[in-house]
Amino acid sequence: MVLPYKHEPFTDFTNEENKQAYLEGLKLVNSYLGQDYDLVIGGERVTTEDKIVSVNPANKEEVIGRVSKADRELAEKAMQAADETFNTWRKVKPEVRADILFRAAAIIRRRKHEFSALLTKEAGKPWNEADADTAEAIDFLEYYARQMLKLKDGMPVESRVGEYNRYNYIPLGVGVIISPWNFPFAIMAGTAVAAIVAGNTVLLKPASTTPIVAAKFVEVMEEAGLPAGVLNFVPGSGAEVGDYLVDHPRTRFISFTGSRDVGLRIYERASKVNPGQIWLKRVIAEMGGKDTIVVDSEGDLELAAQSIVKSAFGFSGQKCSACSRAVIVEDVYDQVLNRAVELTKELTVGDPTDNSNYMGPVIDQAAFDKVMKYVGIGKEEGRILAGGEGDSSKGFFVQPTIVADVDPQGRLMQEEIFGPVVAFSKAKDFDHALEIANNTEYGLTGAVITNNREKIEKAREDFHVGNLYFNRGCTGAIVGYQPFGGFNMSGTDSKAGGPDYLLLHLQAKTTSETL
Ligand code: NAD
Ligand code: ALA
Repeated sequence: MVLPYKHEPFTDFTNEENKQAYLEGLKLVNSYLGQDYDLVIGGERVTTEDKIVSVNPANKEEVIGRVSKADRELAEKAMQAADETFNTWRKVKPEVRADILFRAAAIIRRRKHEFSALLTKEAGKPWNEADADTAEAIDFLEYYARQMLKLKDGMPVESRVGEYNRYNYIPLGVGVIISPWNFPFAIMAGTAVAAIVAGNTVLLKPASTTPIVAAKFVEVMEEAGLPAGVLNFVPGSGAEVGDYLVDHPRTRFISFTGSRDVGLRIYERASKVNPGQIWLKRVIAEMGGKDTIVVDSEGDLELAAQSIVKSAFGFSGQKCSACSRAVIVEDVYDQVLNRAVELTKELTVGDPTDNSNYMGPVIDQAAFDKVMKYVGIGKEEGRILAGGEGDSSKGFFVQPTIVADVDPQGRLMQEEIFGPVVAFSKAKDFDHALEIANNTEYGLTGAVITNNREKIEKAREDFHVGNLYFNRGCTGAIVGYQPFGGFNMSGTDSKAGGPDYLLLHLQAKTTSETL
């Protein structure tokens, strides 16, 4: 019997045994740094001359690994392998498909700290953030396997006397999975296995800054018994391989998580019916955010400051859910701002393998340059009260930065920065705060700090975001507990880790038999 789903607990690193287990994982990861990884096409390893080189963002000199790079020809080969394998994989019983996910979850759980340490080295995640990413990957495997078991017999429909009607879900075909670097394990694995457990075959194109954790995950799926050709591993350039696969007439659906601009490009290209294509492609697109914490005068102000700082600077603000706007009712504005500045000044930035550092680096030079550009804009649009400095001599380090008194229409309040920068704006009252909170084109997460029940209910109705939290921060959705996905330009609101998610990878078939 399958036990009820329960999310993977986070590791307490104040416990000496857990700390040692993580350090053992780190030792193991250090022992295999710099290795080469192949593409996997129809179960075959393919090596290319051209490589994607993954480097440690905390130490540019350190190579995490080199991954072979797919071009159009190899992407085509992978498409053919996935297309052919779909004919057999779609007929494998859902229970068998689910078992592979359960087995993969067990393997990852056994190697949990190794995977977390790899995330620390490859993505610059501090221990607790890496641990949460690994836990979320396990959760997706455990949760989607159970969801498939719930859907395997379809849904009941009525039958009249003399007929037998059935309503079942069948897979779609070949899916292209395009994942981001900021949850390089959880989102990459979650989006891939949701498609796979539903009976589809996939081409996985991970982000080019974090391909090694993806290569290790592909090995886990093989060890768990996934047949060749179901999961094809095709790292490559977004523009070359990405466009080719998005446009391909045999692509049945695209599951993309990443920036707004790339998401829009994919959405638009996927809408074009290319020669030989006999379906309308489905697009799941989960994109950026500009997420707000609203603080009311009737709220717990210490909780407000703590929540803002944690949501803004956890993993250096590189979460789609990160708080990049704090909108505070004017009566308590100075108090919350001053406390947030105090807390921010206590944060330490440095090599994330050292667990005493709260924040590690941002992901690469381009991210560093972009964040520093916004810090410059912040100097013009407001007052920098904490941070404002960056150093990219060894790794890509940016100090956690608070910019006060920004106009709600300012660039810092409107554009996704994706780094450790939070803008503060003053609101006249609670209604005005909600108005400001809704004034971007995004709609991913948000939080409200208030003890007033009426205001909570008002925000529940009027704060237009996919994930709204009360009296806590706006990051850290848990699979199966807080299904995740955004409104407006934050995407298609697919609600990853939710009860409807697998249906996006399936199509319903009605059969009616006259008896
Ligand atoms: P990105 O859009 O730059 O890249 C995402 C993926 O798309 C990568 O694998 C990249 O190689 C690929 N890509 C790039 N160009 C492509 C093209 N033309 N065709 C196909 N694929 C292409 O995003 P990123 O920098 O990796 O991630 C950060 C962004 O992701 C932020 O905007 C963040 O808000 C968003 N994000 C959203 C969610 C969510 O659930 N809503 C979760 C995580 C990250
Ligand atoms: N699921 C991640 C969070 O909620 C993005 O922070």
